[in-house]
Amino acid sequence: MLWRRLAALALIATGAFAEEEATELRQLNEDNFKASIAHGAWLVEHFSPRCWHCKAFAPTWKDLAIKNAYHEQLSGFHMAQVNCLAQGDLCDSNNVRGYPSLMLYADGKEVGEYKDDRAYPLLDAWIESKALAYSRGESLGANDTDSEGRQPDQLNRPNHEGKVVEVDEAGLEALKTNGPVCKKLRPIYEKLAATYKGALNVAAVNCDDHPILCKRNGVQGYPTIKLFQHGEVKVFEKHRTLPLMTSFLDEEVKSVPMKKMTNEDFEGIIADDDLFFVYLTSYSTSLEEVEQVERAVKSLGLKVPVYKTNDPLFYKNQSIAMPPPTSSLLAFASHEPHHVGAVALPAKDEDLEHFVHRNSYPNYFDLSGDNYNTFFLSENHPLVVLGAVRDGAEGEKDRVEMVKMARAWKKGGRHSEQRIIFVSAIASSWQKWLRKMVGVQPADIPTIVAIDTKGRKFYDRKIEDIRVRLTGADAFSILEGIHKGYLKSQDVGSALEWGSRSGTLMLFEAGQWSAAHPFLATLSALAVVVALVLGLARCLGGRARGARGTYVNEKGGQRLD
Ligand SMILES: *[C@@H]1O[C@H](CO)[C@@H](O)[C@H](O)[C@H]1NC(C)=O
Ligand SMILES: *[C@@H]1O[C@H](CO)[C@@H](O)[C@H](O)[C@H]1NC(C)=O
Repeated sequence: MLWRRLAALALIATGAFAEEEATELRQLNEDNFKASIAHGAWLVEHFSPRCWHCKAFAPTWKDLAIKNAYHEQLSGFHMAQVNCLAQGDLCDSNNVRGYPSLMLYADGKEVGEYKDDRAYPLLDAWIESKALAYSRGESLGANDTDSEGRQPDQLNRPNHEGKVVEVDEAGLEALKTNGPVCKKLRPIYEKLAATYKGALNVAAVNCDDHPILCKRNGVQGYPTIKLFQHGEVKVFEKHRTLPLMTSFLDEEVKSVPMKKMTNEDFEGIIADDDLFFVYLTSYSTSLEEVEQVERAVKSLGLKVPVYKTNDPLFYKNQSIAMPPPTSSLLAFASHEPHHVGAVALPAKDEDLEHFVHRNSYPNYFDLSGDNYNTFFLSENHPLVVLGAVRDGAEGEKDRVEMVKMARAWKKGGRHSEQRIIFVSAIASSWQKWLRKMVGVQPADIPTIVAIDTKGRKFYDRKIEDIRVRLTGADAFSILEGIHKGYLKSQDVGSALEWGSRSGTLMLFEAGQWSAAHPFLATLSALAVVVALVLGLARCLGGRARGARGTYVNEKGGQRLD
């Protein structure tokens, strides 16, 4: 009996406490006013308990304060009151002339006063707009001149025009860069610069004009291409084709700072980036946490961009509850507007790293000449779940099924050392290849073949010796079978060597080749510098010498210089 009564009391007590706490309105006074409003945006109601308008407005203020409380954590927008009957001096020094006065402060400065109708919907919309503006670093009012159009990241971003910069000694120092241009190569460099717009400076030094500079940088042959990064220099020595240059940069460029984004940028990012992360912060995110995330994403280099945002509109877009429980890191893939994975922060270093790793490669692709090599000739030797899909609307259904499988695998698939990727190939375009390499006949389509690029083996039958259909269940069952070693494999394309010249020629035949690089669009980051050091005269004179003297590259691609 006593227990029950105690329990009941406890319930009442906590209930009352919770209610009181939720509706408590923040009060400021002489002692804490300055220190409080010094950080964040503050809407402060100066009131007198005796004023009739103030009393009438009190319920509205209370509702607004409750509804917008989440903005404190999310956007740094606060609401508070000053009782001018008790705090006369403070109200005088705040230039309060009537009651109630709603003053807006940003980082310690007065930036405006709300003088419109104090009806809930109007004031609420106004608060939303100010909270949004504050969290985005935009101006809140006439007096807030510092933050006028404040977008430091954008302004300081390297290579913001996406063009090669021609530099001399001084320019080089300024860019910590190097590089000249050979007329014939110029188009590649221009493409490279366009590709790394906002990420890397691409510079050119004409060694005829700046011989000493070139000598000091150890330029012996022309063109010479160097990457300058954090005081280190790497020479690019492969064939000068765009794909090889970009893969060199993907590989070498490390630790790219996160780029700020707003909700408006998001659509463009989805369109451009096949794969990216968004670090969703709030006003209350700690510096330690930012550093932890920076450490975790460092290994991504240029391969996968990481954006950072605290935009409340983006929280809404991703249907993340407000107030945000914590900040989080979101992973996006396959040009889809909703994240495929999220990790809530704070998290353990190892969990965060595992999350980043798991989401740092795309696991779904549409097969094309551009990306063919990245699966079938990759040094990682992935296991490719290849869907041979139909044409037209039916093919679109097959493709959607493949995308679903890829996502499901990413979320819950068995962890394995070998990368597993899902690839759709439109059967009519890849007919010959499918038949010769993995024995897929037109009658089998739509179907799946799991190709182990390491052992050059493929699997197209389940344990029951039934041909695999294009369904998630079949895909998972075959992956499980491979993992357990239950399934019988067959050798890939006896007639054709993997990636041989004839294999490549087949791609040309299929009319699928282009110079584009699958990661081209995803490269976007800050602050690293590429230098291209070339000699104009010798380039024009013709052939490069020595080791670079072969004129057909081994992949059968056209040599671009
Ligand atoms: C700007 O600041 C001045 C004094 O610092 C103040 O008198 C004025 O009301 C402010 N303007 C706005 C729009 O808040
Ligand atoms: C989020 O933004 C993207 C890109 O602008 C848009 O396609 C999507 O519909 C938005 N989602 C929601 C729930 O607003």
